[in-house]
Amino acid sequence: MSGSSRGEFSSSFGFIMAAAGSAIGLGNIWGFPTQTAQNGGAAFVLLYLILAFVVGYPILLAEFTIGRHTQSNPVGAYQKIEGGKRFVPIGFLGITAVGFILSFYSIIAGTMIAYFINPILKLIGLNDAAAWVTSQGVSSNMLFASLFFFLTILIVAAGVKNGIEKWSSRLMPTLLVILILLTIYVLTLDGAMDGLKVYLLPDFSKVLDPQLFTSALGQAFFSLSLGVGSMLVLASYTSKKENLIRLGRLVTLSDVGIAFLAGLLIIPAMYAAAASGTEIFDASGNLISGPNLIFQVLPALFNTMGPVGILLSIIFFFLMVIAALTSTISMLEVPVSYAVDNRGMHRSKASIIIGLIFWAVAMTIALNFDLLFNFVVSATTQFIQPLLGLFICIFVGWVMNRNTLIQEIKQGNPEIENSLFMKIWPLFIRYVSPILILIILVQAFL
Ligand code: TRP
Repeated sequence: MSGSSRGEFSSSFGFIMAAAGSAIGLGNIWGFPTQTAQNGGAAFVLLYLILAFVVGYPILLAEFTIGRHTQSNPVGAYQKIEGGKRFVPIGFLGITAVGFILSFYSIIAGTMIAYFINPILKLIGLNDAAAWVTSQGVSSNMLFASLFFFLTILIVAAGVKNGIEKWSSRLMPTLLVILILLTIYVLTLDGAMDGLKVYLLPDFSKVLDPQLFTSALGQAFFSLSLGVGSMLVLASYTSKKENLIRLGRLVTLSDVGIAFLAGLLIIPAMYAAAASGTEIFDASGNLISGPNLIFQVLPALFNTMGPVGILLSIIFFFLMVIAALTSTISMLEVPVSYAVDNRGMHRSKASIIIGLIFWAVAMTIALNFDLLFNFVVSATTQFIQPLLGLFICIFVGWVMNRNTLIQEIKQGNPEIENSLFMKIWPLFIRYVSPILILIILVQAFL
């Protein structure tokens, strides 16, 4: 919103990096491999890929469109569009849910900081301290999650251009290169090929497992930052010259691509570890999984590489911290933009107050990790996010004026009106995506 204090991205590149930076994060490198291991491999991968494109991408575009059209946050957006008043509670639910997502996310992101520091401490001989930082006990979790919150608040308080854009525009290509190099290395190890088979050859008897659908849908929503308004808010800062369809495609492809690559690294790495004696199956014969999976597999992998491994692990976990930060700033930004737009609060004050509220939630989760962590993760990502996505489909597909929608998408993309895409996308938003979400949500409760 030029002339006001909302801020705007200074370039198209800035917006792409911010949206891709929001999407690419722990969801790809921690969430996706963990879910894949938990759900038995390739069947999950296949379902995730389908749902990301069939349900995720259409909703991403819907969020982009509402966001840029209203130049507002989720609550403000529904208030501004005709027929949207009844959807305002949905906006509030998004603002709250994203705060809870930020809270559990900060604990895993904090662990990334710990694993970044661990090899450095070892290098200078502080072995006890090194062991403590990665112990993932209550106190180390609380410390590193707090540190991570502090960084997030600092950047969001600085605003769109100085904060989000600057951070998002850097370092992601490096992450991609490292992932590729590590994957190539892992695939040369003994045992890795067994992992590759588990990762790529679906066991179709598993495709009918209801839990598989719930997990894959939740993962698609989580990884693409959907439903809660992250993408809506980022698009609200972008200019009318942008081609939203193209941007949405870029974000989806890069997000799905990085997740796929991370799986290609972690699952074979588990089997390579098994080949050298590490136990990777639990008592009931399933792959070990859970929030700690990658923190067991990756350091073991780096250990096999000697001094190069130490350097690589420092760089890798540093990049993970940055990737997580570009995601959490797009989370905290949602409630903060509401406080700034609708309540007239100063950005830095809003960032600190709202940041502290969800920091307290994060501390509560850290203190009751076994009780709360998995519960908050699945409640927010497997239920609330898809539910919010369903409402976005209903709003954009059935309530919002069709012409307003087309006019908004046409800006930055004038030829689109009579294209095949504009015939298909509305069908997805009206029927395909919401019906799939509904079926998966309902079967989860049966
Ligand atoms: N998509 C990010 C990741 O994969 C996390 C994220 C950012 C997110 N904003 C979000 C998840 C909003 C859910 C909702 O790590």
